[in-house]
Amino acid sequence: MKAGVLVTGGAGYIGSHTCVELLESGYCVTVVDNLSNSSEESIKRVEKITGKSVKFYNADVRDKNALDKIFAENKIDWVIHFAGLKAVGESCEKPVEYYDNNLYGTLVLLHAMREHGCKKIVFSSSATVYGDPEVLPLIEQCKTGGTTNPYGTSKYFQEIMLNDVYKADNEWTVVLLRYFNPVGAHASGLIGEDPKGIPNNLTPYIAKVAIGELKEVGVFGNDYPTPDGTGVRDYIHVVDLAKGHVAAIDKICSPGVYTYNLGTGVGYSVLDVIHAFEKACRRKLPYVIKPRRAGDIAACYADASKAKKELGWEAKLGIDEMCASSWNWQQKNPNGYKKD
Ligand code: NAD
Ligand code: UFG
Repeated sequence: MKAGVLVTGGAGYIGSHTCVELLESGYCVTVVDNLSNSSEESIKRVEKITGKSVKFYNADVRDKNALDKIFAENKIDWVIHFAGLKAVGESCEKPVEYYDNNLYGTLVLLHAMREHGCKKIVFSSSATVYGDPEVLPLIEQCKTGGTTNPYGTSKYFQEIMLNDVYKADNEWTVVLLRYFNPVGAHASGLIGEDPKGIPNNLTPYIAKVAIGELKEVGVFGNDYPTPDGTGVRDYIHVVDLAKGHVAAIDKICSPGVYTYNLGTGVGYSVLDVIHAFEKACRRKLPYVIKPRRAGDIAACYADASKAKKELGWEAKLGIDEMCASSWNWQQKNPNGYKKD
C-alpha cells in the first residue's frame, strides 16, 4: 500500500486539486483545514471525482492537541503543508495575523511531526521569495529575500525555518516547492478557485467579468518594460501543479532539502491572458488600463528544468487549457461552492 499523506489546507484551491492527484495515484489522504478560506464542499467534490474517501478534520494547524489526535489516528508518512493565509494586500494590513497563522502554524506542525516521528514535509512556497528578479528566467539558486510584503516574507522565513530543521536533524526530508502563478481548474468543473469577495488575482477577476458579475478588467499598468507594457507572469495550470506534488513524494526517497520551481517557463502578459480568456468564453472582454499596483514587478517566470530533470515532472497544459478550465468552473459554479 502507498504512503499516507496529511494535507494541511487540503480544502483550499491548490490543496483540493492535489488531493485528487494523490488519491488517483493510490495515496491515502487525510486533510486538516480550519475552513477559514474554503468550504468542506470541496472535499466532497474531491471524493466525487475520485470515488475515494478523504478523512477530514476541521481544525487549525496551530492547535497542537488537534494535530496530536490526527497523527495518533492516522498513518502519516508525508505532510504536504498548504495551510496559510495568502493575500498579499491583506498581509500588509494584518501582518500580525499573517505571521501568526503562517509562521506559528508551521512551528506547531513541525513540533507535532517531530513528536510523532514523521519527518517528511512538502512546503508550499512561492516565486515571491525571489523578490524583484535580477535575472530571468529564475533558477532555484537565485537570491531569495528582498520580499516586499508580510505574506512573501512569511514564505521566505518558513523556507529558512525548514532549512534549519534539516541542518539540526538530517533525518528530515524537506521539499520546498516554489509555485509561480497557479490558475485554472480541474477538467470536471467540480473543483476550482473560489475567492471570497472581489478577486485580487487576475484570472478569477477575468472570469467574473466574463460571467457578467464585474464590469471590466482593470489592467494594472501598461508601461512596464515588457513586450506589450503589461505585467508578465508564469501561469501554471493547477492540475499540473498538483501533479508536481505527487512527483515529489513519488521520487524523493532520501533525506535532504530539495527546492524546485514549479512553473511552465513561459511568461504571458496581462493582455495575453485576457485574449486567451476571450477565446475560451467566445466573447470580447472589456478592460481598462489603470495605474500600476503597488508592490508589483514587471516580469517573473521560471526555469523549471530542475524539476524536470530530478522529478521527471513538467507542466503539460498551456494558457488555452488554463483559461478554458477556469471558464468551465466559473460557468458551472457561478457562486463557487455556495449553494445557489
Ligand atoms: P487557499 O486559501 O485556497 O488554501 C489554503 C487553505 O488553508 C484554505 O483552505 C484555508 O482554509 C486553510 N487554512 C489557512 N490557515 C489555516 C490554519 N491555520 N489551519 C488550518 N487550515 C488553514 O490557498 P491556495 O491558493 O490553495 O494556496 C495554498 C498554499 O499555496 C498557501 O500556502 C499559499 O500561500 C501557497 N501559494 C499559493 C499561490 C497562489 O497563487 N494561489 C502561489 C504561491 C504559493
Ligand atoms: N493584474 C491586473 N489586474 C487585476 C489583477 C492582476 O492587471 O485585476 C496583473 C498584475 O498586475 C500582475 C498579473 O496581473 O501583473 C498577475 O497578478 P496576480 O495578482 O494574479 O498574481 P501575482 O503575480 O501578483 O501574485 C501571485 C499570487 C502570490 C504569489 C505569486 C507568485 O497572488 O501569492 O503569484 O507565485 F506569491
